[in-house]
Amino acid sequence: VSATGSGFRASAFIATSLDGFIARPGGEIDWLPAGEDDGEDYGYARFMSSVDALVMGRASFDKVLSFDAWPYGDTPVIVLTRRHLEVPPGLAATVTASADPPERLATDLPARGIHHVYADGGITIGRFIRACLLDEIVITRIPVLIGEGIPLFGTVTGDVPLEHLTTTAYPSGLVQSTYRFAYAGPAVHSAR
Ligand SMILES: NC(=O)c1ccc[n+]([C@@H]2O[C@H](COP(=O)([O-])OP(=O)(O)OC[C@H]3O[C@@H](n4cnc5c(N)ncnc54)[C@H](OP(=O)(O)O)[C@@H]3O)[C@@H](O)[C@H]2O)c1
Repeated sequence: VSATGSGFRASAFIATSLDGFIARPGGEIDWLPAGEDDGEDYGYARFMSSVDALVMGRASFDKVLSFDAWPYGDTPVIVLTRRHLEVPPGLAATVTASADPPERLATDLPARGIHHVYADGGITIGRFIRACLLDEIVITRIPVLIGEGIPLFGTVTGDVPLEHLTTTAYPSGLVQSTYRFAYAGPAVHSAR
């Protein structure tokens, strides 16, 4: 089931500090646990296998490029940017840049066989929410306060109700909650 009924769904899968940040002010994510804990991947592989592509903001893409290894294999990655994007040659087959708004992506991507996207980056997730196009969000809370940073959620144009689906408390102390967005009726959708 999608928010649009058009065969397009967007989900987010993101970790936050207990005080709600996705990165320090300069983008550092050193406070995130590195990789798996005792083989526990917190549902990441299963989530990844459910998506056809990632749609990530330029800031998140730049961060991922700094990692030792490219984490997304052959999964297509669409990088949202209003600037020229230099794609490293090794990634030319999977990474493309786009300046399209979420509404346009929702209309165009299904024709390319992309029906479920992983929206990543705080600004990007906010843009999908404001377009009423984020269907689900999985938030994994790390038990640490970092005091300041890039928030997961930004401004909204009105209250955005969500339906809580499930919460899992892991032995490691990470707490993961899944919410479904319950956008207000047809008026909101027709206003897009
Ligand atoms: N904790 C986690 O699980 C997690 C997950 C993902 C990311 N992160 C961290 O979050 C940080 C990045 O998040 P973020 O919220 O700063 O940004 P983001 O969503 O990753 O990217 C924001 C970028 O999107 C582009 N953009 C904005 N509006 C646009 C428009 N109308 N059309 C096209 N492109 C547009 C802009 O790039 P241009 O300026 O090039 O136009 C903007 O800088 C990084 O530090 C990353 O490490 C953490």
